[in-house]
Amino acid sequence: MTDTTGADRWPADVDRAWWREAVVYQIYPWSFNDSDGDGVGDLAGILERLDHLEYLGVDVVWLNPVYESPQVDNGYDISNYRAIHEQFGTMADWERLLAALHERDMRLVMDLAVNHTSDEHEWFQASRRAPDGEYGDYYIWHPGRETVDAVDSPGPPDRAPPNNWESHFGGSAWAFDDERGEYYLHLYHDRQPDLNWANPAVRTEIGDLMEWWLEKGIDGFRLDVINLISKPATLPDGDPSADWVGSEHFVDGPHALAYLQELDDRVLSRYDAMTVGELPEVSIQQARAYTGPDGPLDMAFSFDHVQLDFGEEGRWTVGDWTLPELKAVISGWQTGLGDGWSALFFENHDQPRVVSRFGDDEQFRRESATLIGTLLLSLRGTPFVYQGQPLGMTNPPFESLDALQDVDTIRNVRMLMDERGIEDYAEVRELVEHRTRDNARTPMQWDATPNAGFTDGDPWMPVNPDHHEVNAADARARPNSVLSYYRRLIELRHETPALVYGEYELLLPAHESVFAYRRTLEDDRLLVVLNFDDGYTSVDVPGADPTATLLLANYDDVATPAGPLDLRPYEARVYRL
Ligand code: GLC
Repeated sequence: MTDTTGADRWPADVDRAWWREAVVYQIYPWSFNDSDGDGVGDLAGILERLDHLEYLGVDVVWLNPVYESPQVDNGYDISNYRAIHEQFGTMADWERLLAALHERDMRLVMDLAVNHTSDEHEWFQASRRAPDGEYGDYYIWHPGRETVDAVDSPGPPDRAPPNNWESHFGGSAWAFDDERGEYYLHLYHDRQPDLNWANPAVRTEIGDLMEWWLEKGIDGFRLDVINLISKPATLPDGDPSADWVGSEHFVDGPHALAYLQELDDRVLSRYDAMTVGELPEVSIQQARAYTGPDGPLDMAFSFDHVQLDFGEEGRWTVGDWTLPELKAVISGWQTGLGDGWSALFFENHDQPRVVSRFGDDEQFRRESATLIGTLLLSLRGTPFVYQGQPLGMTNPPFESLDALQDVDTIRNVRMLMDERGIEDYAEVRELVEHRTRDNARTPMQWDATPNAGFTDGDPWMPVNPDHHEVNAADARARPNSVLSYYRRLIELRHETPALVYGEYELLLPAHESVFAYRRTLEDDRLLVVLNFDDGYTSVDVPGADPTATLLLANYDDVATPAGPLDLRPYEARVYRL
């Protein structure tokens, strides 16, 4: 059904780059494939499964952190940037993986968390021991505010934390270190102290370690929470009613852009590497400054579209989302980013499964998973596909708090239960199952065997019970599976420059269930029509007439358009006009 006439439509006057034309596949090493039976995924396990990636046709692998780490936050607490975490294997395994990917024409992007390190990193150990030593100023230390009675203070009774900033994982963003006798800042876990980027020596270290990995032959970095690296020196209090108290000061702080520019000038610009920044709470305008022609990053992850289902009191409440809102947010970014560039995603290791969130994970799992895939792969930007997403993997049940591994959920939900005097898990279960990052972290579902082919041992997280039906072996064998459809979508993307570079234009903005838009590049005009609903809809879409050619659809038997389009539940179509 795929029309390949777009193959030679690469226009002369677009700013082509391999990373704009790529489709990225994200691997969460903890849960991808375990080769040695310890229940945790590893590098050798990834190596065994490269056929899956090649089948899909992806171009780049983003590997979540595999560096040496105490794993308090599953690898985002790095204790040695130049070593591999033992459970994942050795540096030799990593080198084998890089070589195998390159051999198959796939590139490798490493995940770098440099807003903070682990408290076990030697820099932090030295910093807490010797305030006047070489590393004394590598972190954000403060004696605290003098007070007569700091009741809730995490430190001594006469010293309150320097300000009211909160950790993303709940509670104060300050911890008191007895050894040094001062507070240090941690925007995440108290075992993830924030580096002091205001210190030029810190910036030099980070540039050096990036260069070290680039010299090993990697193809880029995903930069963790990289717009949080600059904190105002005066450490002002934040608005106490904010969802993340202090964020107006540390998101896109005073020198964030300049620090990244410096890294780009010194290191990144010397390599043909891609950089994708994770930018929590970023505005369209700021994202454009980071990723436009003069910006230090190639592309940005933004989060507005995955916050639509937050409740009135933020992330730890559940709210409703509507399609007109989703369309408005996505369209705002598509058109507003101008000469900047988006990293497109619906899933990652921090998000629930998209089919459970924006689709229907029961009756219309296949249809809604493929519809969302169509949206992801037909927008302007670089699409990122998370492991299991092309299988239509769903959120699993979490029977109790003990079933959770994610520090973020465990801490925040415990605090919420304490604050509200809730003792029974049943009262927060819906919220947990809706929101927890563990939704995305259950083992990859390779086949229908008891541990889904992920491990021969005891998996570190239970396998989703739906793996009997939802698994790669089965999907590979069925031409109408979610996986087969993703493969065709990726193929279409690769041969259709208008899907990568074309202008985006929203149609029918107020329609309650249909998401329709045009992508136009010179004289190539594509139309995407998505029925985001479990019912049937008949809709007039400009351009959908008998001259339109169907390029791809997630249903068979699509009639030639004549008059209104009759769309079935979660039906997705891509036309060339
Ligand atoms: C990013 C990561 C997340 C991690 C946090 C702190 O948001 O994606 O998994 O917990 O940064 O490093």
